[in-house]
Amino acid sequence: MEAKKVADSRTIMTEMIMPNDTNPLGNLMGGNLMRWMDIAAGICAGKHCERHVVTASVDHVSFQKPIHLGDVITIETVVTRAFNSSVEVYVEVFSADIKGKNNRLCNSAYFTFVAVDEASKRPVKIPPVLPLSADEQQQFESALRRREVRLILSKRMKPEEAKHLKELFGAS
Ligand SMILES: CC(C)(COP(=O)(O)OP(=O)(O)OC[C@H]1O[C@@H](n2cnc3c(N)ncnc32)[C@H](O)[C@@H]1OP(=O)(O)O)[C@@H](O)C(=O)NCCC(=O)NCCS
Repeated sequence: MEAKKVADSRTIMTEMIMPNDTNPLGNLMGGNLMRWMDIAAGICAGKHCERHVVTASVDHVSFQKPIHLGDVITIETVVTRAFNSSVEVYVEVFSADIKGKNNRLCNSAYFTFVAVDEASKRPVKIPPVLPLSADEQQQFESALRRREVRLILSKRMKPEEAKHLKELFGAS
């Protein structure tokens, strides 16, 4: 399969925070933000895979700053690395006021999606990611270690099998 550029599937979603989206403190509710992140990241993964995908895991979700009623959020998503049937997507959420002022990074996370065949619902092979910029290359390399962490935590890999993590910590 031919590798695809990160830019080919980059997806950006914009939303304005309405009263129904908020918690009793008047800030965006975390679960509502995660739903939008899942949709944007899923579209990004689906574009890369050129088929429907399912969410397999979400890691490193970090709510760094509150997002207020009336703010405009921008959810930016890029693929970092594809494996056999799974692809990792990096998500960043920025929030600004309606004038575009006070723009700040409020949330980031790594989502993993699995491409499935529509008829059998079984995982299918997907195209590799072609990293071009230094940042894309760094995300591509570190995706190997993040994959090992999530496979260990989901009991799909034994810690002793995690060769990229071992290399990072200098273990033989
Ligand atoms: C994701 C799913 C299709 C994997 O099915 P499976 O029978 O375990 O398939 P496999 O063992 O062949 O694994 C397929 C891929 O999923 C990846 N995977 C499975 N569970 C994972 C997890 N918890 N985290 C990260 N990747 C995972 C595997 O590493 C593998 O990746 P690779 O092909 O790139 O090596 C299956 O678990 C599923 O359908 N889950 C529900 C998805 C869903 O409904 N999401 C919406 C949430 S409500």
